[in-house]
Amino acid sequence: MAMGVVTALGAPGCSGGPAVAPEHAPVFVPAPPASGNPFEGASFYLDPAYAAKVEATVREQPARAAQLRKVEALPTALWLDSVAAVPTVSRALDDAARQESGHENGGKGPVVTVFVLYDLPERDCSAQASSGELSIENGGEARYQHDVIEPLAAQFRAHASQRIVVVVEPDSLANLATNLGVGKCAAAAPVYRRSIALALKRLSMPNVWLYLDAAHAGWLGWKRNRAKIAAIYRDVLADAGGNDRIRGFATNISNYDALRRGDLARLEPSDPCPDELTYVEKLTESLAEVGITGKGFIIDTSRNGRSGTKTKSGSWCNVAGSGLGERPQAAPVPGVDAYWWIKPPGDSDGGSEPAAAGYDASCASPDSLTGAPRAGAWFTRQFLQLVDNAMPPL
Ligand code: BGC
Repeated sequence: MAMGVVTALGAPGCSGGPAVAPEHAPVFVPAPPASGNPFEGASFYLDPAYAAKVEATVREQPARAAQLRKVEALPTALWLDSVAAVPTVSRALDDAARQESGHENGGKGPVVTVFVLYDLPERDCSAQASSGELSIENGGEARYQHDVIEPLAAQFRAHASQRIVVVVEPDSLANLATNLGVGKCAAAAPVYRRSIALALKRLSMPNVWLYLDAAHAGWLGWKRNRAKIAAIYRDVLADAGGNDRIRGFATNISNYDALRRGDLARLEPSDPCPDELTYVEKLTESLAEVGITGKGFIIDTSRNGRSGTKTKSGSWCNVAGSGLGERPQAAPVPGVDAYWWIKPPGDSDGGSEPAAAGYDASCASPDSLTGAPRAGAWFTRQFLQLVDNAMPPL
């Protein structure tokens, strides 16, 4: 649905005076935001590009074909991690529309497609693995608006009858809550806030459900951190036009925290949120304190099937021994819109080899798998391990 356009002129006849030509440029008023849980009653878009990655591994492991192909039947999110990725959205949505009307859907209702918006200027400000192409120095803020957000909004408007979910900028606002001591994050802070507010304002549409990233229990679980992030959300949402611009929040993106129990109780005894479901409950309370209420949550369960895999709660890169978690599903528990595989299982978090591209020291930690390629690249060894350790089993 197109953004409504009104001119500065009142409706004819309202003023009672003679009609005059508009003196001002048109004023854009936002369309009403999407409402309800987008996952409910929907079937899920299957990304052929993801299936192709799995197929490459099937060719290397023909004896395991039947087991590995089960993953191809499960949805993953599509990451918009570069300007070059933005024009692929139309193709994916056209494909989702075909899936919706085609026989493979078997009359299972609307198809929901999940994207991750991930191309902020100064991206991944507290680490190296996922630093992006846009920076303050290269005019990244304007490029984010003109080369990412506006073309994305146009493609969403052109697919007004489809259900679209967007997870907005993993890690970014959480870095502003706890990592302003890092120079790159301090410099990025105002740019992150403005760019995210703009993204929410422009992408909010009746067919687009927006979820702001909310890190995870092991990062923001403490009361003080929850209060900090809640205040940041309050301010950014006010700039974006109000709390109703977003459907909710997404947690555990590309992370490993368990839904219940898990490693945190052992590794972070002072954290009142030992797992993601407790975190969602407590974050809901912290949000209510700043007037943000009625929000839904997505929890990334792509890699949180197993606990006991970390020696430090802060280990985030290609954690060895991990397994696929709960399968993507709508409304698994009250207050949670979906469990979803946001991080495509098998995509690396970052490179472990110091001499190779995309190296991050965190990816060479004792908790991480060795031989890892740069972030986003296919990591066969990790994929096989996630499948082997899946819980529930595949
Ligand atoms: C990478 C992105 C990638 C995403 C999904 C991130 O860590 O930086 O390039 O698209 O993971 O695998």
